[in-house]
Parts: sequence; C-alpha cells; structure tokens
Amino acid sequence: MRTRIVGTGSYLPARIVPNSELAPTVDSSDEWIVERTGIRQRHIAADGEFTSDLATAAAKRALASAGVAAGDISLIVVATATPDQTFPSVATVVQMKLGIIDCVAFDVAAVCSGFLYALTVADSLMRTGGHRRALVIGAETFSRILDWEDRTTCVLFGDGAGAVVLEAEQSNGLSSDRGILATRLHADGRYNELLYVDGGPGSTGTTGKLRMKGKEVFRHAVTNLAAVMHETLEAAGLTAADVTWVVPHQANLRILEATARKLDLAPEQVIVTVQQHANTSAASVPLALDAAVADGRIKAGDLLLLEAMGGGFTWGAAAVRW
Ligand code: UT7
Repeated sequence: MRTRIVGTGSYLPARIVPNSELAPTVDSSDEWIVERTGIRQRHIAADGEFTSDLATAAAKRALASAGVAAGDISLIVVATATPDQTFPSVATVVQMKLGIIDCVAFDVAAVCSGFLYALTVADSLMRTGGHRRALVIGAETFSRILDWEDRTTCVLFGDGAGAVVLEAEQSNGLSSDRGILATRLHADGRYNELLYVDGGPGSTGTTGKLRMKGKEVFRHAVTNLAAVMHETLEAAGLTAADVTWVVPHQANLRILEATARKLDLAPEQVIVTVQQHANTSAASVPLALDAAVADGRIKAGDLLLLEAMGGGFTWGAAAVRW
C-alpha cells in the first residue's frame, strides 16, 4: 500500500498586517524584517476566529480539490501548537464542523514540524490500519501566543492553515510510482529552551508566550534540515539530483536558501511563501504546497521534498512523488 496526496487546500485569515504597520510598534523596520527574514506581511486571525475554523476551511478546500466527500474520511490528524482549547483536540472539532459521524481524530504536537509528523503518522496508519482516506491538516493561530512587545519574535509569525487529502492505494513500490515514498522524523529535547512557550495548563495555568533564541535555532535548522533531507532521499533510493521541488517550512528566506545550497539545489526549485505568510508553524508546509499546486508549478511525476524544523527541537522530511 502507498498513500497519495489527492487534494490540497489552504486558508488564510482575511486581515493582512504588512511590516509597515507592525514594525513601528516594536522599534523595528520593514528593511530589517525583509533583509533578515524575507517576510513582508502576515495574516492575522479575527477575534473569535479559531484554529479549528482555519483548519476546517482549509480541509473543505482540500476535499473539494480531491473530489472526496467529507463522509469518506476515516482519519483526521491535525498538527497544531495553538488549539482552540487545551482539549478536546482540534481534530475532533474539525470532524464535527465537517459533519463526519465516525472517524479517528487526534492532534499532533510537534510545533513547526507538526505537518511532517502528522503526515508520517497518517501515512503509517493508512498503510497498516486500513484507512482508505485521511485528512492531514496543519493549522495555527500563533498570533495568540506572541508577545507583541518582543520585536525578536512577533514580526516573524502569522496565522493560517493548509490541508491535504490522502488516499491509500496499491503500488508497485517503485520510486517512480506516485505517493509518499519515504518520511524521516527526529527530535532532540535537549534544545527545548531555545524555542518554547513560557506557560501551559500543567505549569503556569496560563497559555504563555513564545520565546526563541533565533540565532541558535537558525544554526541548528540549516544543519538538521540538510541532514534529514539527505536521509529521506536515501531511504527512497533517490538523490538530490532527482528533486524537482523543495516544499519547506517557511521560517526565514535565508534558511531556505542556505538549506537548498547544501543540497546543490537551485533557489528556483524552492517553493517560497514566507514573504506573504511569514512563519505559520505547522501550517506553512501545506500552505506552500497548496500555493504551488494551485499555480501549476507542481505537476504529475514531480519529486517533492517536504521539510520542517521547529520547537523541541523536532524536524523531519518527506519525499513525495506527485
Ligand atoms: O519555525 C521554527 C524555527 N524558527 C526559525 O527557524 C527561526 C530561526 N532564526 C531566524 O530566523 C533569525 O535568527 C532571526 C530572524 C530570528 C534573527 O535574525 P538574526 O540575523 O539571527 O539576528 P540577531 O538575532 O542576531 O539580531 C541582530 C540584531 C540584534 O541587535 P544587536 O544585538 O546586533 O544590536 C537584535 O536586537 O537585530 C536586532 N533585532 C531587531 N532589530 C529590528 C532583533 N529583532 C529585530 C527586529 N527589528 N524585529
């Protein structure tokens, strides 16, 4: 069995906040933000608009693009670090909003690598657990956990959601066959303190705010991502020369460029949305994927390399034949 991505969808909140609006409030500038990160704007959820709303909107679009009815979904995995409530999971709220009567639904917490973790878990469950069709969603409202007075973090993130519909099918097991060819995940909890939220239901009883030592995260990101991309390609029996597109987590344009260079890939092979979306954590990979599918860049037969790294640290990659 192999799982194939048969539909993609995304959703961004209506409100766009350009650097020019945000920068003066925190003694920053459009020039600094663009030069250091590539970010020009971010979308911010409206009051009363929750992660589950973004996730459901993206899921509906993914289902429509796949031509799959919500009732045919038996598994929903949502990657998020910003659930509406501590529990229930966003996945069960999405299930309810989509009107699905019975399915398996749960959230995965791996922050910015959440979508790679969720995709890997769903892929495994589908190949071994008999699920035929699944929704894998990355959805975040990081605006709710930002310290809007901390210029070293608040300019970097935005809200959004991306979703894919997975379908399990028989395959010959060749790397030329369509579908998820290989995934690889990692975590190293020794680095928790470089990127974390300073609160939580079991510690402070508050939600807390995001804290990051950006420079150190940057350094680890390039090294870890290049390594896991090589490892994933090797697991699929492929090399960097086979890659058509890199669909990366969108944290910083400089990270995307440095990582591509390490694999001898051209900058034009990297799908970049960080300028418009900023860092949307678990949503950024499926948002970038949907953008490049929608504008026709990604075509049948292309080899995609999805990758992400985030808090924990956690990181991972997936090789996907489109
Ligand atoms: O999604 C999870 C993974 N996250 C990431 O991958 C993020 C990785 N890190 C980064 O993207 C970058 O490290 C940042 C964008 C966060 C920072 O860029 P940097 O080039 O590493 O800058 P820096 O932290 O070394 O700061 C340089 C200077 C500092 O001033 P001094 O000490 O040189 O006087 C900062 O105080 O820039 C200052 N600075 C700012 N200035 C204007 C930091 N933030 C800002 C700001 N506006 N927003």
